[in-house]
Amino acid sequence: MVKILDSRVKDHDLAGNGKSLLRWAEDHMPVLMSIRKRFSEEKPLRGATIAACLHVTKETGALMRTLVEGGAKVALAGSNPLSTQDEVAAVLAEEGVSVFAWRGQTKEEYYECLMQVLSKRPEITMDDGADLITMLHSGAGEIPRIIGGTEETTTGVVRLKAMAANGVLKYPVIAVNNAETKWDFDNVYGTGQSTLDGILRATNVLLAGKNFVIAGYGHCGRGLANRARGMGARVVVTEVNPMKALKAVMDGFIVMPMTEAAKIGDIFVTATGNKSVIRRDHFRLMKSGAVLANTGHFNVEIDIGALGEEATEKRRLRENVDEYLTKDGRKIYLLAEGRLVNLAAAEGHPSEVMDMSFANQALSVEYIIQQGRGLKPDVYDVPEEIDRTVARLKLETMGVRIDTMTKEQEEYVKGWSEGTE
Ligand code: ADE
Repeated sequence: MVKILDSRVKDHDLAGNGKSLLRWAEDHMPVLMSIRKRFSEEKPLRGATIAACLHVTKETGALMRTLVEGGAKVALAGSNPLSTQDEVAAVLAEEGVSVFAWRGQTKEEYYECLMQVLSKRPEITMDDGADLITMLHSGAGEIPRIIGGTEETTTGVVRLKAMAANGVLKYPVIAVNNAETKWDFDNVYGTGQSTLDGILRATNVLLAGKNFVIAGYGHCGRGLANRARGMGARVVVTEVNPMKALKAVMDGFIVMPMTEAAKIGDIFVTATGNKSVIRRDHFRLMKSGAVLANTGHFNVEIDIGALGEEATEKRRLRENVDEYLTKDGRKIYLLAEGRLVNLAAAEGHPSEVMDMSFANQALSVEYIIQQGRGLKPDVYDVPEEIDRTVARLKLETMGVRIDTMTKEQEEYVKGWSEGTE
């Protein structure tokens, strides 16, 4: 039986540093701050309890404060055993959020923390990867209390759509990931930059002139490919989807199977959402000194078990870098234990881009409350109105003005009768 607690963080004395981190984030998240201001006046979330499973970063801290300002009670668990910023967890706990997160959790502790947030009897869930929802649907917590949930990331949306297709999803979930102001910015620019940041903080390797292999050319892979090219790397893409492979080719990247890429790569990053994308056969082909990292949601993209079996020795070389010595004397380096390198070895996406993602989260929670029990169990897109509001506010805060259509143009784009002149 799990003993119910109010919070569990690494060290409450870290709260002072956490406050400074949060101030930095909030100064770079003007859209979320404008929503917070309105929430503080209108209290649209009054009376709701929200259970969240998100990476506990300074940006998540800014979101949690916004939900509290809107009148909600919030319980927060980390969404990865290595991604929690302990200073942020400490300050949120001090401010009355029930936080269950610390960096370096075991798998058992990770799931125990999810149990703790579910014990707070939420009406709303907020997920990044769908672990909280799947846990609820496996018998933990009280599903009938829940009016809706949100999901932050591609992997989570894929899992939820599978649940909906199998008829097992029991409440409505807003796919925040699928808002244009989320995936077209967070996944592309956020992942692109923060993944390189993680690799560089962990290793300080020179990217210029290196063969940089990216598995997966979705939005995250594309963002990363462009940033790595910008740093002077020779970018190789591997794909299973012909459409995405074609896009990579036309974007000017070299595309080949992983069995070929494995022989030439200096740095490998997985961004696929699938498992064992880099596996035993590939490890055997790699050059000594190859660096492996993952930026997909789960730590299954690199077959770490097989890597261990291929090695005679494994040692921690520096923080976030494990050296595997293979039977034939090669060295292969694994970053951040194969977990999300951008969050485990760096700070995740920059605040400016999380501003839009978390504005969508806050407004989607408000939307769920407005709908009450009116939505059937399914996976929903973020309403277009919310998406547009976020884009408009972001432009405003960046001081960018745009044109508006004339009356004549509005009619023209709605009509069909005018053709070749
Ligand atoms: N996912 C990626 N970057 C993040 C961040 N900075 N905060 C929360 N979740 C994230």
